[in-house]
Amino acid sequence: MAREDGYLSGKESRRISKENRKITAALEKKRKRKNVPESEYLTEMKNPENTVEFENLRTYFYTDAGTVKSVDSVSFSVPMGKTVGVVGESGCGKSVTSLSLMQLLQRPQGQIVDGAIRLNTGDKVYDITKTPETVMQHLRGNFMSMIFQEPMTSLNPVFKIGDQVDEVLLFHKSGYETKEAAKKRTIELLEMVGIANSEGVYNMYPHELSGGMRQRIVIAMALACSPKLIIADEPTTALDVTIQAQILDLLRGLKDKINSSIMLITHDLGVIAEMADYVVVMYSGRVVEAGTAKEIFSNPSHPYTIGLMASKPVVGKHVDKLYSIPGKVPNPINMPNYCYFRDRCDKRKGCCDGAYPGEISLSETHRVSCYLYDEEARK
Ligand SMILES: Nc1ncnc2c1ncn2[C@@H]1O[C@H](COP(=O)(O)OP(=O)(O)O)[C@@H](O)[C@H]1O
Ligand code: SF4
Ligand SMILES: [Mg+2]
Repeated sequence: MAREDGYLSGKESRRISKENRKITAALEKKRKRKNVPESEYLTEMKNPENTVEFENLRTYFYTDAGTVKSVDSVSFSVPMGKTVGVVGESGCGKSVTSLSLMQLLQRPQGQIVDGAIRLNTGDKVYDITKTPETVMQHLRGNFMSMIFQEPMTSLNPVFKIGDQVDEVLLFHKSGYETKEAAKKRTIELLEMVGIANSEGVYNMYPHELSGGMRQRIVIAMALACSPKLIIADEPTTALDVTIQAQILDLLRGLKDKINSSIMLITHDLGVIAEMADYVVVMYSGRVVEAGTAKEIFSNPSHPYTIGLMASKPVVGKHVDKLYSIPGKVPNPINMPNYCYFRDRCDKRKGCCDGAYPGEISLSETHRVSCYLYDEEARK
């Protein structure tokens, strides 16, 4: 346990790291097995209309200060051809959820410890939590790809744009084994993401382009293999407002053209309002509310969602100071055993001191974890 003042003694810290090494070494050993039979990682979708299903996913980081429960029993699905917005304050586990799906967690400390992530590729369904790395290499790019916040993290500064997009096609996509075929497709992709001078840009280096242009290139790379799922993690956060609007327009337009599912991660409810069919609200590693965009925006139910709505600026409405939810998120290493939002919640009642609230269905698609909607607890 941490000391009262929150610091660890050297001895305690050494004990934790020794214990961590034991846990992560066992998990890594399991992961690195060779020739894992398909039967161990192929599975069935709960609903074949979904592209992805997260079920009770737990992803922890074993750090020297203790175990960070970044994602703590998260369940939601991404239906085919739909956009699911995942929203929540910084640090609530949005990126770790998507990195778990791509198996791109920082290892060995980051580990999926429980739950399932089912990916539907059409002919097969993979449980990502059990899929070996060699198979993951084939799934990433071909069936799911990721757009990160900062485009320079996905582009190599020393190679020309054209060569980098060609490379994705040459590596992943059959039918583009020759450089000429790949180049032709790359030019098409650049035009598809709204780059006017595509031949010119083909021969440019990343530093010759603006941030918005670079993000378009990254989107072109993500689309190269027509993946079933595109994960966009804060795709517009690093861009200024006008460019942000253009990139969102582009993503929206593309969605209809390519018929992929999009998992859109953002801290910005405005972005969600423009893009999403379904919304998942996360708080401290858990889903506190989920529903269709209409349900979440017209009937936000969890006090946290209501707070997020109130802190969103509204065009044309003058306010002296934007609302911000008071208080701060709990320490992820020592999570309380009651509602994680309790200490910031202005609607809390006596029953909120009890165990973490269970999930209540408000409609077939709308669910919330809060005692306010629990008839039994309120009695
Ligand atoms: N590599 C890491 N090592 C330790 N803790 C991490 C690591 N990556 C993320 N975390 C922790 O996991 C939690 C969720 O992080 P993240 O998913 O990045 O949040 P966000 O919702 O802002 O994307 C945070 O408490 C963060 O500090
Ligand atoms: S369970 Fe209680 S403390 Fe938690 S969000 Fe609901 S009303 Fe607030
Ligand atoms: Mg993030």
